[in-house]
Amino acid sequence: MARTPLLAGNWKMNLNHIEATGLVEQLAWTLKDVKYEREFSEAALIVPFTNIRSVQTVIEGDRLPLRYGAQDVSAHDAGAFTGEISAGMLAKLKCSYVVVGHSERREYHDESNELINAKAKKVIEAGMTPIICVGEVLEIRKAGDQVSHVLAQTKGVLAGIPSEQVAKLVIAYEPVWAIGTGEVATPADAQEVCGAIRSYVREVFGDEAADGVRIQYGGSVTAANVVDIMAQPDVDGALVGGASLKAEEFAKIVMFYRAVR
Ligand code: 13P
Repeated sequence: MARTPLLAGNWKMNLNHIEATGLVEQLAWTLKDVKYEREFSEAALIVPFTNIRSVQTVIEGDRLPLRYGAQDVSAHDAGAFTGEISAGMLAKLKCSYVVVGHSERREYHDESNELINAKAKKVIEAGMTPIICVGEVLEIRKAGDQVSHVLAQTKGVLAGIPSEQVAKLVIAYEPVWAIGTGEVATPADAQEVCGAIRSYVREVFGDEAADGVRIQYGGSVTAANVVDIMAQPDVDGALVGGASLKAEEFAKIVMFYRAVR
């Protein structure tokens, strides 16, 4: 089954809503100049909450071939949860994607696999697609335990999600030691873990789920290394941090397929 590669730019806590509008417009110009062909890849912008409405306005107004989404969501539906944003609020803004369980949320906000699983379920219930992050820290990689560690995370974050939903979601493998460090995992490192995730999904959720689920790699992805990473059979996209804040660089990443077509 053909999986459309998903190249998603995680802006993290960068750009106010005015700067965000500027970057989307710049990106649109760049993609238009080179004629971005949407059937070969899907591009999404994962932006701060305060930017969603502005990004939506530009994308809808100019009918840009871009999707967008949020970086986190509450595990609750509504009520006395000061500072939180519900999945329903994000769905109303027509977000396609919501990242859950990013390693920065796990590290700085103590997010557990259980909480991430609850958030992913809220995203699915609201009709959006979760991008669920997993990945090991350096000590685990040094000990050679990356596969068992990531599979334990995968088991936790996917618990109780029906197979037909697993088939539609996105899992992002982001080794923590490769995030923002310039130290990119080798294509073989990425394939090892992404392949193991797909095998796990096949074993537990069946063929349809395993063939449908998209598995991204994330961690220091740039225009210079994306082609080799995307050439791996079980890598279906990238979750891009720093390089997604530069229009030309991100446009090249989104159009990685030009190097191979
Ligand atoms: P960098 O691409 O800046 O390493 O960030 C990766 C990441 O965390 C994307 O979610």
